[in-house]
Amino acid sequence: MMAETKESELVEEPLFIWKTEDVYTNPTEVKMSQLILPCHANHRGELSTGQLLKWMDTTACLSAERHANCPCVTVSVDDIDFEHTLSIGQVVNFKAKVNRAFNTSLEVGIAITCEDPSSGMQWKVCNAFATFVAKGGKGLGKVQLKPMAPGTSEEQMEYSIAAERRRMRLRHLETIKDLVSSSTIQNETNSEEYQSAVPAGKTRVESIELVLPPHANHQGNTFGGQIMAWMESVAAISASRFCKGHPVLKTIDMFHFRGPSNVGDRISLKAIVNNAFKTSFEVGVCAEAYHQEVWDRKTHINSAFLTFVMLGKDGELSTLPCIKPEPGDGERRYREASARKKIRLDRKYIISCKQTEVPLSVPWDPSNQVYLSYNNISALKMLAAKQNWVLNCTQNKAKLFTLEEGQFLSFKVEMSVSVNVKQVFTLLSDMSRRHEWDSHYQKFELIQKVDEDDVIYHVIGPTHSKGSNFQDFVLLASRRVPCADGDPYLIALRSVSLPAAPPTEDLVRSEVLCAGFTLWEEEDTQTRITYYIQATPGILPYITCNITGLSADLCKIIEACHKFLEQNKDMANVAL
Ligand code: COA
Ligand code: ADP
Repeated sequence: MMAETKESELVEEPLFIWKTEDVYTNPTEVKMSQLILPCHANHRGELSTGQLLKWMDTTACLSAERHANCPCVTVSVDDIDFEHTLSIGQVVNFKAKVNRAFNTSLEVGIAITCEDPSSGMQWKVCNAFATFVAKGGKGLGKVQLKPMAPGTSEEQMEYSIAAERRRMRLRHLETIKDLVSSSTIQNETNSEEYQSAVPAGKTRVESIELVLPPHANHQGNTFGGQIMAWMESVAAISASRFCKGHPVLKTIDMFHFRGPSNVGDRISLKAIVNNAFKTSFEVGVCAEAYHQEVWDRKTHINSAFLTFVMLGKDGELSTLPCIKPEPGDGERRYREASARKKIRLDRKYIISCKQTEVPLSVPWDPSNQVYLSYNNISALKMLAAKQNWVLNCTQNKAKLFTLEEGQFLSFKVEMSVSVNVKQVFTLLSDMSRRHEWDSHYQKFELIQKVDEDDVIYHVIGPTHSKGSNFQDFVLLASRRVPCADGDPYLIALRSVSLPAAPPTEDLVRSEVLCAGFTLWEEEDTQTRITYYIQATPGILPYITCNITGLSADLCKIIEACHKFLEQNKDMANVAL
């Protein structure tokens, strides 16, 4: 085991639920359990990650095909963080189900756990999301998929957030390209350590594989899992050449299958260490296919970046030597690997903030812009999907609900307006007009228009806190139009911090973890508006000091919002 399993990490739910007539089971759910045998393991008796990826892809592909009713191919697998390694004699369990079907592609969620049969203990290994495209058959094109109907509230939430993950995936390549090209990280070619560094060329690996029938489906298309396994295998050799030992794979950045390969193709695999940090290092690997009968022409199948660590005898992370990149491409990859590492760390920080660590504001940085926006929207979607909202009161057709969870008290206010949903969306997205209906927005200043959907602004309003009459927020507002019929319009808000708007002595800097609107079209000129706000201890004074006051205050704001929308609907520009 890589790290000792903590009590809190144990899987609480039983993995296997006997199906009875009244237990709902998703029709696309596929489970697979495998006993780890020596043939699946490396020389240390640990399950090879390549084998894990193959099983994962098989389970997920079957789930995709259950929905599609035709063969599916892997298009991408999102970033994976491995929390534990697995050993011979343990059982690895896979559970996959379709979260959402889009047009020709669908997202499958996969949960991987490990089970120790001798103790009965189970723990999480990782979660993954894979996207598949439905193909009509040999030589045939993509197939339009039927929509997926979520069966439970949890599935409804995954369905909703899947649209946001898809948006991020489709922007991934472009985002990473922009980030690495704009990175200001310099090669430290003058340091003493660098002079005694390991030459990157010593870690270069080249290999070739022939695609045989067992590596492909019945249509002859190579399984994505097989390609990932081959890529992982050459990356592991490159990694072991660097640290002269057997490192452990910690994370894999998104895999994207750019083109197909078939039985009979030769797959060329190349790997090299791109950069080494203090205790982790990145190996890049590139897979290309030489197709039958046109051996002189190759197509780029996939490129992946894997992060490894080296463990000492006591299980502690070992300190690593520096790497000396090769001139030209090597130096570029060295800088790009540093930029990718920064992106990974920033994302971890965003996730940990979501889990209520302080401070709640995440630092704004263009390198995590897409992820922050994704996180902003998905936090609102998750809050909206909660099941245990309790109706608190009804005031002038507005219904106020509360939800208590840990240190958070959340509110939602629901009302209907006789205004077209696009007009409501346009009016509520315009933060510069919020002061017209929300007395807490006394002063508004746009700090940055990030893109079409995201803005950062500074707002000042009254407070009941001691020491000042005013508080301020720096908020990221992210808006989304529906991905498909049946999705709401969304406007999500969360606090960020950035040097252009530092806290000042005369204002109490306050923070919002999650707030915003969901807008559902009820009829052509009727919209159901739900306003959410997660009241962390820091923002309670934003409204007033007690629950009754809070409820009354929120209802008053929503009533003013209602009036504002009715009065301004004809002025709203709905060109979305
Ligand atoms: N992640 C997730 N989904 C992606 C994606 C990515 N990086 N890139 C494209 N897609 C989705 C698109 O959103 C679209 O889905 P939608 O119809 O539901 O909106 C679908 O894939 C097709 O995208 P499109 O831009 O029309 O691509 P295309 O027609 O050029 O080809 C593939 C897409 C998947 C058919 C092609 O890239 C391919 O054959 N890849 C190899 C797949 C394979 O064989 N994998 C097995 C291992 S080799
Ligand atoms: P990039 O060069 O932009 O990183 P590629 O798709 O060309 O993208 O390659 C992905 C990774 O594969 C590289 O970062 C590198 O680590 C590895 N790689 C590419 N070409 C070679 C090669 N000829 N030899 C060894 N490794 C390679």
